[in-house]
Amino acid sequence: MKILAIETSCDETGIALVEGTKTENGFIFKLLGAAALNSQAALHALYGGVYPNLAKREHQKNLPVILKQALDQANNPEVDAVAVTLGPGLEPALWTGIEFAKKLAEERNVPLLPTNHMEGHLISSLVQENKLEGVTLPVLALLISGGHTEFVLMRDWFKYEVIGETQDDAVGEAFDKVARMLSLPYPGGPHISKLADEARRANLVFEKKLPRPMLHDATLNMSFSGLKTAVLYTLRDLGGIQALSPDQISAFAREFEDAVGDIFIWKTRRALEQTEASSFVIGGGVAANSYLRNRLEKFIQDEFPHIALYLPDTAITGDNGVMIAEAALARALSGIDDTPKEEVRAYSNRFSISPPK
Ligand code: KG4
Ligand code: ZN
Repeated sequence: MKILAIETSCDETGIALVEGTKTENGFIFKLLGAAALNSQAALHALYGGVYPNLAKREHQKNLPVILKQALDQANNPEVDAVAVTLGPGLEPALWTGIEFAKKLAEERNVPLLPTNHMEGHLISSLVQENKLEGVTLPVLALLISGGHTEFVLMRDWFKYEVIGETQDDAVGEAFDKVARMLSLPYPGGPHISKLADEARRANLVFEKKLPRPMLHDATLNMSFSGLKTAVLYTLRDLGGIQALSPDQISAFAREFEDAVGDIFIWKTRRALEQTEASSFVIGGGVAANSYLRNRLEKFIQDEFPHIALYLPDTAITGDNGVMIAEAALARALSGIDDTPKEEVRAYSNRFSISPPK
Protein backbone atom coordinates (compact mmCIF):
# COMPACT_ATOMS: atom_id res chain seq x y z
CA MET A 1 0.00 0.00 0.00
CA LYS A 2 1.35 3.44 -0.96
CA ILE A 3 0.55 6.57 0.98
CA LEU A 4 1.17 10.23 0.30
CA ALA A 5 1.38 12.06 3.64
CA ILE A 6 1.24 15.72 4.49
CA GLU A 7 2.38 17.35 7.73
CA THR A 8 1.89 21.06 8.47
CA SER A 9 1.17 21.17 12.20
CA CYS A 10 3.85 23.67 13.13
CA ASP A 11 6.64 25.35 11.16
CA GLU A 12 7.86 22.42 9.06
CA THR A 13 6.15 21.66 5.74
CA GLY A 14 6.61 17.93 5.17
CA ILE A 15 5.47 15.53 2.44
CA ALA A 16 6.37 11.88 2.13
CA LEU A 17 5.51 8.98 -0.14
CA VAL A 18 5.87 5.71 1.69
CA GLU A 19 5.02 2.15 0.75
CA GLY A 20 4.03 -0.17 3.57
CA THR A 21 3.83 -3.95 3.54
CA LYS A 22 2.41 -6.23 6.19
CA THR A 23 4.74 -8.98 7.40
CA GLU A 24 4.28 -11.88 9.80
CA ASN A 25 4.84 -9.80 12.92
CA GLY A 26 4.58 -6.21 11.79
CA PHE A 27 5.27 -3.96 8.84
CA ILE A 28 8.06 -2.93 6.51
CA PHE A 29 8.20 0.57 5.10
CA LYS A 30 9.89 1.78 1.99
CA LEU A 31 10.50 5.46 1.50
CA LEU A 32 9.69 6.31 -2.11
CA GLY A 33 10.12 10.05 -1.87
CA ALA A 34 10.16 12.79 0.73
CA ALA A 35 10.59 16.51 0.78
CA ALA A 36 10.44 19.09 3.51
CA LEU A 37 10.85 22.78 3.70
CA ASN A 38 11.72 24.51 6.86
CA SER A 39 12.23 27.89 5.29
CA GLN A 40 10.24 28.99 8.28
CA ALA A 41 12.85 28.36 10.95
CA ALA A 42 14.84 31.43 9.93
CA LEU A 43 11.68 33.47 9.55
CA HIS A 44 10.31 32.48 12.94
CA ALA A 45 13.77 32.97 14.45
CA LEU A 46 13.34 36.68 13.76
CA TYR A 47 10.42 36.64 16.17
CA GLY A 48 11.84 34.07 18.59
CA GLY A 49 8.95 31.65 18.11
CA VAL A 50 6.36 30.33 15.70
CA TYR A 51 3.57 32.63 14.55
CA PRO A 52 0.51 30.68 13.34
CA ASN A 53 -0.51 33.00 10.51
CA LEU A 54 3.02 33.32 9.27
CA ALA A 55 3.29 29.52 9.39
CA LYS A 56 0.07 29.20 7.39
CA ARG A 57 1.34 31.53 4.66
CA GLU A 58 4.61 29.66 4.40
CA HIS A 59 2.87 26.27 4.20
CA GLN A 60 0.65 27.56 1.39
CA LYS A 61 3.74 28.65 -0.49
CA ASN A 62 5.76 25.49 0.25
CA LEU A 63 3.21 22.72 -0.29
CA PRO A 64 3.00 22.72 -4.12
CA VAL A 65 6.78 23.05 -4.39
CA ILE A 66 7.64 20.11 -2.16
CA LEU A 67 4.81 17.97 -3.49
CA LYS A 68 6.45 18.19 -6.90
CA GLN A 69 9.86 17.34 -5.40
CA ALA A 70 8.54 14.30 -3.56
CA LEU A 71 6.55 13.05 -6.56
CA ASP A 72 9.52 13.50 -8.91
CA GLN A 73 11.76 11.61 -6.51
CA ALA A 74 9.29 8.73 -6.36
CA ASN A 75 8.62 8.74 -10.14
CA ASN A 76 5.06 9.87 -9.60
CA PRO A 77 3.51 6.60 -8.37
CA GLU A 78 -0.16 5.78 -8.02
CA VAL A 79 -1.09 6.16 -4.36
CA ASP A 80 -3.75 4.30 -2.41
CA ALA A 81 -4.51 7.06 0.09
CA VAL A 82 -3.56 10.56 1.22
CA ALA A 83 -2.79 10.97 4.92
CA VAL A 84 -2.77 14.32 6.67
CA THR A 85 -2.07 15.62 10.17
CA LEU A 86 -5.29 16.73 11.86
CA GLY A 87 -3.70 17.82 15.12
CA PRO A 88 -2.54 18.59 17.66
CA GLY A 89 -0.85 21.68 16.31
CA LEU A 90 -1.43 25.27 15.29
CA GLU A 91 -4.90 25.40 13.77
CA PRO A 92 -4.23 27.80 10.87
CA ALA A 93 -1.16 25.76 9.93
CA LEU A 94 -3.08 22.45 10.13
CA TRP A 95 -5.95 23.73 8.01
CA THR A 96 -3.56 24.54 5.17
CA GLY A 97 -2.40 20.92 5.07
CA ILE A 98 -5.94 19.57 5.42
CA GLU A 99 -7.33 21.64 2.54
CA PHE A 100 -4.38 20.69 0.36
CA ALA A 101 -4.70 16.99 1.22
CA LYS A 102 -8.47 16.96 0.66
CA LYS A 103 -7.99 18.35 -2.82
CA LEU A 104 -5.30 15.80 -3.63
CA ALA A 105 -7.41 12.90 -2.38
CA GLU A 106 -10.35 14.12 -4.48
CA GLU A 107 -8.25 14.58 -7.60
CA ARG A 108 -6.75 11.11 -7.23
CA ASN A 109 -10.00 9.58 -6.09
CA VAL A 110 -8.44 7.92 -3.03
CA PRO A 111 -9.40 8.06 0.66
CA LEU A 112 -8.19 10.83 2.94
CA LEU A 113 -6.72 9.45 6.18
CA PRO A 114 -6.70 11.96 9.04
CA THR A 115 -3.77 11.23 11.31
CA ASN A 116 -2.76 12.30 14.81
CA HIS A 117 0.58 14.09 15.05
CA MET A 118 1.58 12.53 18.39
CA GLU A 119 0.68 9.08 17.12
CA GLY A 120 2.98 9.84 14.19
CA HIS A 121 5.84 10.60 16.59
CA LEU A 122 5.12 7.46 18.62
CA ILE A 123 4.67 4.93 15.82
CA SER A 124 7.56 6.23 13.69
CA SER A 125 9.88 6.12 16.72
CA LEU A 126 9.21 2.39 17.04
CA VAL A 127 10.37 1.88 13.46
CA GLN A 128 13.95 0.59 13.34
CA GLU A 129 15.69 0.28 9.99
CA ASN A 130 12.39 0.67 8.16
CA LYS A 131 10.77 -2.13 10.14
CA LEU A 132 8.03 -2.02 12.73
CA GLU A 133 8.29 -5.63 13.76
CA GLY A 134 8.31 -7.68 16.94
CA VAL A 135 7.33 -4.84 19.26
CA THR A 136 5.98 -6.25 22.54
CA LEU A 137 3.10 -4.56 24.33
CA PRO A 138 2.57 -2.73 26.57
CA VAL A 139 4.63 0.11 25.11
CA LEU A 140 5.45 3.10 27.29
CA ALA A 141 6.23 6.23 25.26
CA LEU A 142 7.79 9.44 26.45
CA LEU A 143 6.77 12.01 23.85
CA ILE A 144 8.83 15.16 24.07
CA SER A 145 8.27 17.99 21.63
CA GLY A 146 7.76 21.72 21.33
CA GLY A 147 4.06 21.43 22.11
CA HIS A 148 3.78 18.31 24.28
CA THR A 149 5.54 16.38 27.02
CA GLU A 150 3.71 13.25 28.04
CA PHE A 151 3.88 9.61 29.03
CA VAL A 152 1.61 7.55 26.81
CA LEU A 153 0.80 3.93 27.52
CA MET A 154 -0.19 1.68 24.63
CA ARG A 155 -1.59 -1.58 26.06
CA ASP A 156 -3.28 -2.49 22.78
CA TRP A 157 -2.13 -1.34 19.38
CA PHE A 158 -3.33 2.18 18.55
CA LYS A 159 -5.11 2.58 21.91
CA TYR A 160 -3.48 5.29 23.94
CA GLU A 161 -3.70 6.42 27.51
CA VAL A 162 -1.91 9.58 28.64
CA ILE A 163 -0.68 8.61 32.11
CA GLY A 164 1.37 11.70 32.90
CA GLU A 165 2.09 15.05 31.30
CA THR A 166 3.53 18.46 31.84
CA GLN A 167 1.36 20.74 33.90
CA ASP A 168 2.60 23.82 32.07
CA ASP A 169 5.30 24.27 29.39
CA ALA A 170 6.39 21.48 27.06
CA VAL A 171 10.03 20.53 27.42
CA GLY A 172 10.90 21.73 23.89
CA GLU A 173 9.27 25.05 24.70
CA ALA A 174 11.44 25.29 27.84
CA PHE A 175 14.56 24.52 25.76
CA ASP A 176 13.56 27.25 23.30
CA LYS A 177 12.77 29.83 25.98
CA VAL A 178 15.93 29.15 27.97
CA ALA A 179 17.93 29.37 24.74
CA ARG A 180 16.41 32.77 24.13
CA MET A 181 17.44 33.91 27.63
CA LEU A 182 20.96 32.73 26.84
CA SER A 183 20.86 34.73 23.58
CA LEU A 184 20.88 31.59 21.43
CA PRO A 185 18.90 31.39 18.15
CA TYR A 186 15.50 29.73 17.65
CA PRO A 187 14.85 26.78 17.79
CA GLY A 188 17.03 26.65 20.84
CA GLY A 189 17.13 22.93 21.67
CA PRO A 190 20.07 22.00 19.44
CA HIS A 191 22.05 25.09 20.52
CA ILE A 192 21.63 24.35 24.23
CA SER A 193 22.59 20.75 23.56
CA LYS A 194 25.78 21.77 21.75
CA LEU A 195 26.90 24.13 24.53
CA ALA A 196 26.02 21.59 27.23
CA ASP A 197 28.09 18.93 25.47
CA GLU A 198 31.03 21.32 25.28
CA ALA A 199 30.70 22.02 29.00
CA ARG A 200 30.67 18.28 29.77
CA ARG A 201 33.78 17.70 27.68
CA ALA A 202 35.58 20.59 29.42
CA ASN A 203 34.25 19.59 32.85
CA LEU A 204 32.57 22.94 33.38
CA VAL A 205 30.10 22.95 36.26
CA PHE A 206 27.69 25.82 36.84
CA GLU A 207 27.97 27.59 40.19
CA LYS A 208 24.26 27.28 40.97
CA LYS A 209 21.97 24.29 40.92
CA LEU A 210 18.59 24.60 39.22
CA PRO A 211 15.46 23.01 40.73
CA ARG A 212 14.01 19.71 39.50
CA PRO A 213 10.28 20.52 39.79
CA MET A 214 7.87 17.73 40.80
CA LEU A 215 10.68 15.19 41.00
CA HIS A 216 9.39 13.57 44.17
CA ASP A 217 5.72 14.04 43.49
CA ALA A 218 3.89 10.73 43.35
CA THR A 219 2.36 11.24 39.90
CA LEU A 220 3.86 10.92 36.44
CA ASN A 221 3.23 14.60 35.78
CA MET A 222 6.02 17.05 35.16
CA SER A 223 6.56 20.80 35.18
CA PHE A 224 9.01 22.83 33.13
CA SER A 225 7.81 26.37 33.65
CA GLY A 226 9.35 26.53 37.15
CA LEU A 227 12.65 25.37 35.75
CA LYS A 228 12.50 28.04 33.05
CA THR A 229 11.68 30.73 35.63
CA ALA A 230 14.56 29.53 37.81
CA VAL A 231 16.87 30.10 34.84
CA LEU A 232 15.48 33.63 34.49
CA TYR A 233 15.99 34.47 38.19
CA THR A 234 19.44 32.91 38.33
CA LEU A 235 20.48 34.95 35.33
CA ARG A 236 19.12 38.11 36.90
CA ASP A 237 20.90 37.41 40.22
CA LEU A 238 24.17 36.98 38.39
CA GLY A 239 23.82 40.33 36.61
CA GLY A 240 22.30 39.21 33.31
CA ILE A 241 23.66 37.29 30.35
CA GLN A 242 26.27 39.97 29.63
CA ALA A 243 27.87 39.30 33.02
CA LEU A 244 28.50 35.63 32.13
CA SER A 245 31.59 34.32 30.37
CA PRO A 246 31.16 31.90 27.42
CA ASP A 247 32.26 29.08 29.75
CA GLN A 248 29.63 30.04 32.31
CA ILE A 249 26.94 30.10 29.60
CA SER A 250 27.93 26.59 28.47
CA ALA A 251 27.94 25.36 32.07
CA PHE A 252 24.50 26.94 32.56
CA ALA A 253 23.18 25.12 29.47
CA ARG A 254 24.61 21.91 30.91
CA GLU A 255 22.92 22.45 34.26
CA PHE A 256 19.59 23.05 32.50
CA GLU A 257 19.96 19.88 30.43
CA ASP A 258 21.03 17.91 33.52
CA ALA A 259 17.86 19.05 35.30
CA VAL A 260 15.71 17.92 32.36
CA GLY A 261 17.57 14.59 32.31
CA ASP A 262 16.99 14.05 36.04
CA ILE A 263 13.28 14.74 35.66
CA PHE A 264 12.96 12.28 32.78
CA ILE A 265 14.91 9.54 34.57
CA TRP A 266 12.92 9.83 37.80
CA LYS A 267 9.57 9.96 36.09
CA THR A 268 10.39 7.20 33.61
CA ARG A 269 11.50 4.91 36.46
CA ARG A 270 8.20 5.47 38.17
CA ALA A 271 6.23 5.01 34.94
CA LEU A 272 8.00 1.74 34.10
CA GLU A 273 7.45 0.40 37.60
CA GLN A 274 3.76 1.33 37.56
CA THR A 275 2.92 0.07 34.10
CA GLU A 276 5.20 -2.94 33.82
CA ALA A 277 5.75 -2.00 30.21
CA SER A 278 7.73 -4.38 27.99
CA SER A 279 8.94 -1.69 25.60
CA PHE A 280 9.99 1.90 26.08
CA VAL A 281 10.22 4.46 23.29
CA ILE A 282 10.95 8.16 23.12
CA GLY A 283 9.67 10.39 20.33
CA GLY A 284 9.26 14.03 19.28
CA GLY A 285 11.70 16.79 18.41
CA VAL A 286 13.52 16.72 21.76
CA ALA A 287 14.25 13.00 21.27
CA ALA A 288 17.08 14.16 18.98
CA ASN A 289 18.97 15.33 22.06
CA SER A 290 22.06 13.14 22.35
CA TYR A 291 22.60 13.65 26.07
CA LEU A 292 19.01 12.68 26.92
CA ARG A 293 19.21 9.68 24.59
CA ASN A 294 22.45 8.48 26.17
CA ARG A 295 21.17 8.94 29.68
CA LEU A 296 17.93 7.12 29.04
CA GLU A 297 19.79 4.34 27.24
CA LYS A 298 22.20 3.82 30.13
CA PHE A 299 19.38 4.01 32.65
CA ILE A 300 17.39 1.27 30.87
CA GLN A 301 20.50 -0.93 30.55
CA ASP A 302 21.29 -0.50 34.25
CA GLU A 303 17.85 -0.67 35.81
CA PHE A 304 15.45 -2.28 33.32
CA PRO A 305 17.61 -4.52 31.11
CA HIS A 306 14.63 -6.73 30.25
CA ILE A 307 12.81 -3.83 28.60
CA ALA A 308 13.21 -3.26 24.86
CA LEU A 309 14.34 0.31 24.24
CA TYR A 310 13.45 2.09 21.00
CA LEU A 311 15.41 5.22 20.18
CA PRO A 312 14.22 6.87 16.97
CA ASP A 313 16.51 7.67 14.10
CA THR A 314 17.30 11.39 14.54
CA ALA A 315 16.23 11.97 10.94
CA ILE A 316 12.59 11.49 11.96
CA THR A 317 12.46 12.99 15.47
CA GLY A 318 11.49 16.45 14.25
CA ASP A 319 8.18 16.99 12.46
CA ASN A 320 8.12 15.36 9.02
CA GLY A 321 5.84 13.64 6.52
CA VAL A 322 7.32 10.16 7.00
CA MET A 323 6.00 9.83 10.55
CA ILE A 324 2.47 10.63 9.37
CA ALA A 325 2.76 8.16 6.50
CA GLU A 326 4.02 5.40 8.81
CA ALA A 327 1.28 5.91 11.40
CA ALA A 328 -1.41 5.98 8.70
CA LEU A 329 0.05 2.89 7.00
CA ALA A 330 0.35 0.92 10.24
CA ARG A 331 -3.30 1.63 11.01
CA ALA A 332 -4.58 0.95 7.51
CA LEU A 333 -2.57 -2.27 7.14
CA SER A 334 -3.95 -3.40 10.52
CA GLY A 335 -7.41 -3.13 9.03
CA ILE A 336 -8.46 0.06 10.79
CA ASP A 337 -10.75 2.17 8.63
CA ASP A 338 -9.87 5.82 9.17
CA THR A 339 -11.83 7.20 6.26
CA PRO A 340 -13.65 10.16 7.79
CA LYS A 341 -17.35 9.71 8.36
CA GLU A 342 -17.77 13.42 9.04
CA GLU A 343 -16.16 16.60 7.82
CA VAL A 344 -12.49 16.58 8.90
CA ARG A 345 -11.35 19.41 11.11
CA ALA A 346 -8.11 20.54 12.67
CA TYR A 347 -7.59 20.37 16.41
CA SER A 348 -5.26 22.54 18.37
CA ASN A 349 -2.38 21.95 20.75
CA ARG A 350 -4.77 21.69 23.69
CA PHE A 351 -5.38 18.15 22.56
CA SER A 352 -3.04 15.23 22.58
CA ILE A 353 -2.78 11.76 21.16
CA SER A 354 -6.50 11.32 21.75
CA PRO A 355 -8.58 13.52 19.48
CA PRO A 356 -11.32 15.75 20.87
CA LYS A 357 -14.58 13.99 21.69
O1 KG4 B 1 8.39 17.54 17.43
P1 KG4 B 1 8.90 18.86 17.03
O2 KG4 B 1 9.73 18.97 15.78
O3 KG4 B 1 7.73 19.87 16.88
C1 KG4 B 1 6.59 19.82 17.69
O4 KG4 B 1 5.73 18.94 17.45
O5 KG4 B 1 6.55 20.62 18.65
O6 KG4 B 1 9.74 19.45 18.26
C2 KG4 B 1 10.36 20.70 18.20
C3 KG4 B 1 11.14 20.96 19.48
C4 KG4 B 1 11.70 22.37 19.59
O7 KG4 B 1 11.33 22.90 20.83
C5 KG4 B 1 13.22 22.16 19.50
O8 KG4 B 1 13.96 23.12 20.23
C6 KG4 B 1 13.36 20.78 20.11
O9 KG4 B 1 12.27 20.06 19.57
N1 KG4 B 1 14.63 20.14 19.76
C7 KG4 B 1 15.58 19.81 20.68
C8 KG4 B 1 16.66 19.26 19.96
N2 KG4 B 1 16.34 19.24 18.63
C9 KG4 B 1 15.09 19.79 18.54
N3 KG4 B 1 15.60 19.96 22.01
C10 KG4 B 1 16.69 19.55 22.66
N4 KG4 B 1 17.78 19.01 22.05
C11 KG4 B 1 17.81 18.85 20.72
N5 KG4 B 1 18.88 18.31 20.13
ZN1 ZN C 1 5.98 17.20 16.63
